[in-house]
Amino acid sequence: MNTFIATLPKAELHVHLIGTLEPRLFLKLAKRNNIQTAYSTLENIKSALQKFDSLDSFLDVYYQVAQVVQTEQDFYDITLAYLKKAAKQRVLHAEFFFEAQTYMQWGITFETIITGITDAIKDAYKKYGISAMPILCFLRNLSEEYALEVLKASLPFKDDIVAIGLASHEKDNPPSKFVGLFTQAKKHGYKLCAHAGEDVGPDYIWQAIKLLHVDRIDHGVRCLEDKDLVAYLQKTYLPLTVCPLSNMRLNIFNKKNYPILQLMNEDLNISINSDDPAFFGGYINENYAEAHKMDLSRDQLVQCARNSINSSFASLEQKERMIHKLEKWLQYH
Ligand code: ADE
Ligand code: ZN
Repeated sequence: MNTFIATLPKAELHVHLIGTLEPRLFLKLAKRNNIQTAYSTLENIKSALQKFDSLDSFLDVYYQVAQVVQTEQDFYDITLAYLKKAAKQRVLHAEFFFEAQTYMQWGITFETIITGITDAIKDAYKKYGISAMPILCFLRNLSEEYALEVLKASLPFKDDIVAIGLASHEKDNPPSKFVGLFTQAKKHGYKLCAHAGEDVGPDYIWQAIKLLHVDRIDHGVRCLEDKDLVAYLQKTYLPLTVCPLSNMRLNIFNKKNYPILQLMNEDLNISINSDDPAFFGGYINENYAEAHKMDLSRDQLVQCARNSINSSFASLEQKERMIHKLEKWLQYH
């Protein structure tokens, strides 16, 4: 890895906890919990990772993989493993999605999930110096009513959760379905994020902005299809958390027409992220490297890192400390 990218101080704002579950840890958890899955060897897993070619076909594999994560210890192990890896890639601060509904449908309690995660966050800070904040991510293919129940279950733990998110099957599950959820979440002090403009175009990005009043758009890459939307995003500098390897692997764009340079040249507030690194062949630095291959200059990569810190939900003080680290690093690079 290019040392410039490897040592560049940065934040990660768009990564799903299950998306970081590496095959070896997956097999260890399957064994520990005595769960039979379709993927019983490293070879099976590797071949499953070659099979999907769209968001929907990827999600079929993703939810199969999620089944092996069941106990507080499992949530702890997977969170700690991701944060260790991120810290090694010079991520100073990570905000990651956990999809509580997936597990609660199987009878696992909210408390089990969040306790494993928050214990790992505390230990990762002590061991690796990385700070982290979890985002409670809702599944848009399920009902708003169920989402509201889970939101309620999260409230005793709300001081440990920074935001809510919205992900999963995008087609036919518009942001407009979740206006009540986002209104309630905001009242309880959560920041707001939503995946939009990944599998569906600008219409869902507009809905996330106008109906859900989000603080960040996850992906958002298809904003370029609508000039008025680009103008709005330029004016407001609303953050877009872009994930190049994910978008190419899921055929949202192909390598030849991936628009990261265009997004940057339009002066949009983009950051570079990994989404589901164990599935898409690369963590955050591999995504920065891909952006560099697609002609983002060093200055533009630094701008993405600066954007990632400024667009995070860390406190002002914490952001200033991270920006200071970045500026100091720049004196030597
Ligand atoms: N869940 C995990 N990864 C996702 C993605 N890229 N889009 C929507 N939902 C997801
Ligand atoms: Zn995502």
